[in-house]
Amino acid sequence: MRHFLRDDDLTPAEQAEVLALAAEVKANPYARKPLEGPQTVAVIFDKASTRTRVSFGVGIADLGGSPLILDTATTQSGRGESTADTAKVLGRMTSAIVWRTYAQSGLEEMAANAGVPVINALSDDFHPCQILADWQTVIEHKGALAGLTVAYLGDGANNMGHSYLLGGALAGMHVRIGAPDGYQPALAIVADAEAIAKTTGGSIAVMADPEAAIARADVVITDTWVSMGQESEKEARLQLFGAYSITAESLAKAAPDAIVLHCLPAYRGLEISSEVLDGPQSVVWDEAENRLHAQKALMIWLLEKAGEK
Ligand code: CP
Ligand code: NVA
Repeated sequence: MRHFLRDDDLTPAEQAEVLALAAEVKANPYARKPLEGPQTVAVIFDKASTRTRVSFGVGIADLGGSPLILDTATTQSGRGESTADTAKVLGRMTSAIVWRTYAQSGLEEMAANAGVPVINALSDDFHPCQILADWQTVIEHKGALAGLTVAYLGDGANNMGHSYLLGGALAGMHVRIGAPDGYQPALAIVADAEAIAKTTGGSIAVMADPEAAIARADVVITDTWVSMGQESEKEARLQLFGAYSITAESLAKAAPDAIVLHCLPAYRGLEISSEVLDGPQSVVWDEAENRLHAQKALMIWLLEKAGEK
């Protein structure tokens, strides 16, 4: 049974395979129906979501299946039923489980007990579905991934920072994280990304200087400075991250044909200016749409692997 709990649950070749399938699915959205029956996929939210909720709901239906959108507050998980017990029950009645939650360890417990593929729809540590959509978008605009320089500015220790490290390394990209001290990625994940990059020709660099991070980058990315669950740290974070904002002025230091990504939701005037978000270098709406196509490809791929076992 294969799961997708972090980006490097796919090998570099498998990531390329899923991304190629994503392009195929986008060109021919209703050609494949692995969930015909319909089979049900549980999609559980412990945190807010617009894009993930809609893209999985629509994507599961497109694949012939029936999405069952759940939230912790109205299930027995909210009253203390263990993740392992929940997994055993869900696995008896559904074909896959998609879960947005806090701790990565919860996803691991779900995967160990479900008996069906489990997909991370964002945890505190990773957001791997987002990176598949992002790389599909970069391929559409740049033709390929390997060798490109990606600069991610802002909170390097959040789910997006970590997933860009692993996902970029898998794709053979040169990943630069520009983040203040204390908000740089976890050392264990940097080490994992470096080990992958050695095999793919990519590279990893973590730095505090935002100008050095963005200099001549091909792909410029940011994310909110206050992730879900960090609301009590908001004031301190807004003070700290100011120098990492993507504005017309900072973007001018990237390659002239750089593209700008943001997983959204964006906080205009903070991590990114409206001028950049709505400007000619922004590809954020393609990126949002590609959540649908990339996740359909991922589900097709995982369901095929589950059938092979
Ligand atoms: N980018 C992303 O995951 O968006 P949502 O939080 O709206 O799902
Ligand atoms: N880092 C953000 C991503 C939102 C899609 C968060 O976790 O809130």
